[in-house]
Amino acid sequence: MSIGPDPRIVVALDFAQPADALHLVEQLNPAICRLKVGKELFTAAGPQLVETLVNKSFGVFLDLKFHDIPTTVAKACEAASRLGVWMLNVHASGGFDMMQAAREGVSRSGRQPLLIAVTVLTSMNQSALLQIGVEDTLQNQVLRLAALAQQSGLDGVVCSAQEAQMLKKKLGPEFCLVTPGIRPKSASLDDQSRVVTPAQALTWGSDYLVIGRPITQAENPLLALETIHQELQQR
Ligand code: C5P
Repeated sequence: MSIGPDPRIVVALDFAQPADALHLVEQLNPAICRLKVGKELFTAAGPQLVETLVNKSFGVFLDLKFHDIPTTVAKACEAASRLGVWMLNVHASGGFDMMQAAREGVSRSGRQPLLIAVTVLTSMNQSALLQIGVEDTLQNQVLRLAALAQQSGLDGVVCSAQEAQMLKKKLGPEFCLVTPGIRPKSASLDDQSRVVTPAQALTWGSDYLVIGRPITQAENPLLALETIHQELQQR
């Protein structure tokens, strides 16, 4: 199967052990997916693993969600960009100055990864927002933070596929939307509740789909990935 230079599926490498992550990666192919390295794997395996994946020609989304004072975030983003990653992220709730500093840090690296923001964590609901002093609706808060990310010069946001249509409409087609919570027709829900199929997510405006367990826990991960691509081609 050949998908071309911009595969839309980002496989979440949610593993505690680098050996398990690498075992999976050996079965995949950079022409048909990218890879997401999150806090657990990065904390266990460090930048060396990221470099290994980059050297295997995979596009790597380094999902460390930086949130700190602007100078610190700028330096972290610069260091992450120097690893050669394809995408990295920060928390939009760090504010305009922090996101702008993140953008400058990325520029200083001389690389050009996509820099995106997390708006409201999907683990938070309306009452959790109230507890931290946010009285507006969840949807308004997502839109406010996504717009702030765009004004700060970021390339896009992580969002639920259910928010994608609204965000594309308000922020334009160029603003990149990365969506987890994706489940192919045949897959188990695991602990996700509001799931969307890959085809539906793309139709609603998602640019990249983060998919973990339906691929990583499959008996044949490559086959699972190819089946999702087939589902997408038929839409
Ligand atoms: O296995 P599954 O497809 O549920 O994995 C989804 C990935 O996306 C995990 O790495 C998870 O942490 C991440 N994620 C998510 N929901 C969010 C943000 C990130 O599921 N709102």
